[in-house]
Amino acid sequence: MSNCSKRFQVVSAIFMVLFSVVPAMADDEVMKQTNMTVFFQDYSADFGTFVMTDDLVTEGPELTSAVVGRGQGISITTGLDGINAYVSFSLVFTNDAYNGSTLQVQGNGNRFLAVREYSVVSGTGKFRYARGYLTFETHFSDPSTFYTLFRVNVTIRHY
Ligand SMILES: *[C@@H]1O[C@H](CO)[C@@H](O)[C@H](O)[C@H]1NC(C)=O
Ligand SMILES: *[C@@H]1O[C@H](CO)[C@@H](O)[C@H](O)[C@H]1NC(C)=O
Ligand SMILES: *[C@@H]1O[C@H](CO)[C@@H](O)[C@H](O)[C@H]1NC(C)=O
Repeated sequence: MSNCSKRFQVVSAIFMVLFSVVPAMADDEVMKQTNMTVFFQDYSADFGTFVMTDDLVTEGPELTSAVVGRGQGISITTGLDGINAYVSFSLVFTNDAYNGSTLQVQGNGNRFLAVREYSVVSGTGKFRYARGYLTFETHFSDPSTFYTLFRVNVTIRHY
């Protein structure tokens, strides 16, 4: 193969790379913002170092309120002082509006703060490319039954 045709191959490879990148950049749709408040109906005893959760997520605070989905994931106490916890979970939607879509949530912070904030790092379905944050607040707690009701405010941007 001549040097000239090798050079042509290199140049055309570079063009192919450029052309495959440009359309993605041109596809610059405006992101929408979605805010929602949901409630996590939690029955786990949150005193261990490793907690797996599969919480019912509802529209309102009542247990009988309309189902939004499930909050499924883990919380691990990571601080040597026992204060910080690493949280990683998915909000798996089953309601009419977002059935089959998910949000992926991650963060590390003081688990005793009145308001805990975590990142929404991505999503699937209607929430592809989602980014944002959510807050957890303890709305009600009954230690005798290990029941805690969290109010969760979600603020995300997505396409
Ligand atoms: C969502 O919440 C943010 C932050 O609180 C606010 O700035 C924004 O206007 C809200 N967006 C909608 C669509 O309600
Ligand atoms: C959500 O999707 C599943 C699987 O496709 C389906 O079985 C279920 O009926 C749907 N639920 C709602 C509320 O649309
Ligand atoms: C969460 O949203 C509710 C309204 O739905 C609001 O009253 C509350 O202050 C919000 N909490 C945080 C931490 O932003």
